[in-house]
Amino acid sequence: MANESYDFGMIGLGTMGRNLVLNIRDHGFSVIGYDKSSTQVETMISESEGKKVTATTSLDEFIKSMKVPRVIMLLVPAGKIVDDVINELKPLLSENDLIMDCGNSHFTDTNLRYEQLAKSNIHFMGVGVSGGESGARFGPSIMPGGPKEIYASVAPMLEAVSAKVNSEPCVTWLGPGSAGHYVKMVHNGIEYGIMQLIAETYHILKSFGKHTNKELHQIFADWNNGKLQSFLIEITADIFLQKDELTSNDLVDVILDSARQKGTGGWASEDAIKLQVPIPVIDIAVAMRDISAYKKQRLAAAEILSGPDVKLSDEKTELIAALEDALYFAMITVYAQGIALLQKASENYSYDLKPADIAKIWRGGCIIRAALLEDIYTSFIEDKELSNLMVSKAIVDKLQLSQNGIRYVLKAAIDNGIPMPAMMMALGYYDSYRSGWQPANLLQAQRDYFGAHTYERIDKEGTFHTKWNQTN
Ligand code: 6PG
Repeated sequence: MANESYDFGMIGLGTMGRNLVLNIRDHGFSVIGYDKSSTQVETMISESEGKKVTATTSLDEFIKSMKVPRVIMLLVPAGKIVDDVINELKPLLSENDLIMDCGNSHFTDTNLRYEQLAKSNIHFMGVGVSGGESGARFGPSIMPGGPKEIYASVAPMLEAVSAKVNSEPCVTWLGPGSAGHYVKMVHNGIEYGIMQLIAETYHILKSFGKHTNKELHQIFADWNNGKLQSFLIEITADIFLQKDELTSNDLVDVILDSARQKGTGGWASEDAIKLQVPIPVIDIAVAMRDISAYKKQRLAAAEILSGPDVKLSDEKTELIAALEDALYFAMITVYAQGIALLQKASENYSYDLKPADIAKIWRGGCIIRAALLEDIYTSFIEDKELSNLMVSKAIVDKLQLSQNGIRYVLKAAIDNGIPMPAMMMALGYYDSYRSGWQPANLLQAQRDYFGAHTYERIDKEGTFHTKWNQTN
């Protein structure tokens, strides 16, 4: 085997890694995989059926079996493991070899790794890959960042394995350095936001609409044939039909209401706060996962804190129609927030990101793929300098037509004490963004009152301070 020359190497043969290897193989390339676990290596070998793929537990053999300059992909958990793998690899590599980190690494780690490896003339790219296990196997959306000329050397393979929309690959070079991992982080923030909005929609349909799982399946399936068409709506419809293997119940009803997270949504929020970009739906989606984990406290509080009784909706059809509009409206605001963050990050970190390119490669393969992305793509093609998606010509009417729906839904949620904080944030973002005047003059006055922080005036240039008429 040591004399064979494989086109690519893959480190990390978990399901994602193995599926990506088979996908690459299906497009005519040969791949050698490496994993410390002999079980993973054996599984890879058996799944490949001896066709253009092999795998090994020997790093030495792995390195010697690849064409030079080597192209090595990593699909290992983000964090320290990535550094450990790079440190093991480094002494075995030659100049001009390329490492592509295809996991969900934090973009600041990607910058450090890039700089470190550049000192040894080893190329490094941070590559976001979205689409879960089936995406990896049959066509993910791929978000690469790093040196453009190095991307060009791997573009034919990445284009071949990526998802396609209208025969166009869902991959393109996004920008230098950590641009790819930044875009993937924002993708995940949007993913958190949309998932939370769908969960809140489920809550009100279940508690107020009193819909059965079978009906919920039908509602989401119908929505998936309309303007809400998207991967997350589609899988939600499926989920309501799944039976539990251990009991005769519907699986969704036996799953604990406490969501875990690997943290990428929170990373997006952290950086948005740092860059002073409002992304409230994503922030609240992160917070709601945190609140969901306080299961014990919530159960105790339910005995102490009261709210209105949830009544049965006597306008079930109206509620469903309003929710379709509300979800659509809110989804637009989440994409708007994510893209606004990308635009600010692009300036701040010199990524030179093109929102149209990003919307284009998110149309297929990834978790947030949705019919709406076609309009988002068109919006940024028509106006490359668009300040916010919500003011795009293609989007203004959609918001206008669906805003009554979100207002109707939120009134029902408030009257019945059903928490819909992400939906509220979506409408709050919209109503604030369209307010020519905001009460921030009062904030300025308060700051100057207690801390002499000064304020600006509407009628004069400069900063001013007042000796306020203090009553205490
Ligand atoms: C994707 C997903 C994926 C992510 C999972 C879990 O694009 O395929 O974003 O990368 O790891 O969705 O994320 P959480 O554990 O944070 O929910």
